Amino acid sequence: MSYLLLYSTQDGQTKKIIICIAENLRRAGIECDLRDLATVKQINLMPYQKVMIGASIRYGHFNSVLHKFITRHQQQLNQMPTAFFGVNLTARKPEKRTPETNAYVRKFLIKSPWQPDLCGVFAGALLYPRYRWLDRIMIQLIMRMTGGETDTTKEIEYTDWEQVDYFSEAFLQMSCDKEPQK
Ligand SMILES: Cc1cc2nc3c(=O)[nH]c(=O)nc-3n(C[C@H](O)[C@H](O)[C@H](O)COP(=O)(O)O)c2cc1C
Repeated sequence: MSYLLLYSTQDGQTKKIIICIAENLRRAGIECDLRDLATVKQINLMPYQKVMIGASIRYGHFNSVLHKFITRHQQQLNQMPTAFFGVNLTARKPEKRTPETNAYVRKFLIKSPWQPDLCGVFAGALLYPRYRWLDRIMIQLIMRMTGGETDTTKEIEYTDWEQVDYFSEAFLQMSCDKEPQK
């Protein structure tokens, strides 16, 4: 049994989350291949029983590598059991941490030609000291407007790791059989 886990990350939080998921799956006896979407162009999904994709938001958008990958692989993706999760700071607020209440993931699902069977939203990390100065100012401004942390000396991880464990379990429990779509 082999699963493919793909991620798109800028500062590493999405990678950290998907590594945690891979560890959970491996503990359950599943073989996992982990790939960065930035380095994957074309890949045959057929050898895998399930596929998961995780991606983060930057200035309101998922990275274009995500959209390109989906466009290229939509047919295969729609025919197999799949999961998607989005990572962003809006989700630091629990009421904005579901696919229905997180604007980025909700919009993604409306527009995407790929419809995952399982979808999640995780809060990311706020890493002020690591940002370039313009990004730091911009994020601080967004945080001020949304009632978040504005102290630029701070690094805060908002990710709820228990939620990540639940998501891993839900992915594990998904049936490997899927009705082929037309
Ligand atoms: C330059 C920059 C822009 C960001 N833009 C947004 C945004 O528009 N909305 C949001 O909710 N989070 C935003 N974030 C927060 C990231 O989504 C969050 O830090 C996440 O953990 C990044 O994941 P990654 O390290 O896997 O890229 C931004 C972060 C940075 C550094």
